Amino acid sequence: MKITATKDGPYLVPTGGRAAIDGEVIEKAQVALCRCGHSQNKPFCDGSHKAAGFEAPAATVELELG
Ligand code: FES
Repeated sequence: MKITATKDGPYLVPTGGRAAIDGEVIEKAQVALCRCGHSQNKPFCDGSHKAAGFEAPAATVELELG
């Protein structure tokens, strides 16, 4: 699995088509999770990082899941 931390933005996490977050089923290929702390819809990104001026470098995390 590859998690992408976008430049100045959220973590993009692939779901394989479906994920459950705090019991809420999400049927999307990926979810965008807030890493700036300003979203009004945590854990999801709502775009607030732009107005907040959040800055962080891009990064990629690759996980081998057993
Ligand atoms: S990363 Fe987008 S609102 Fe926090």
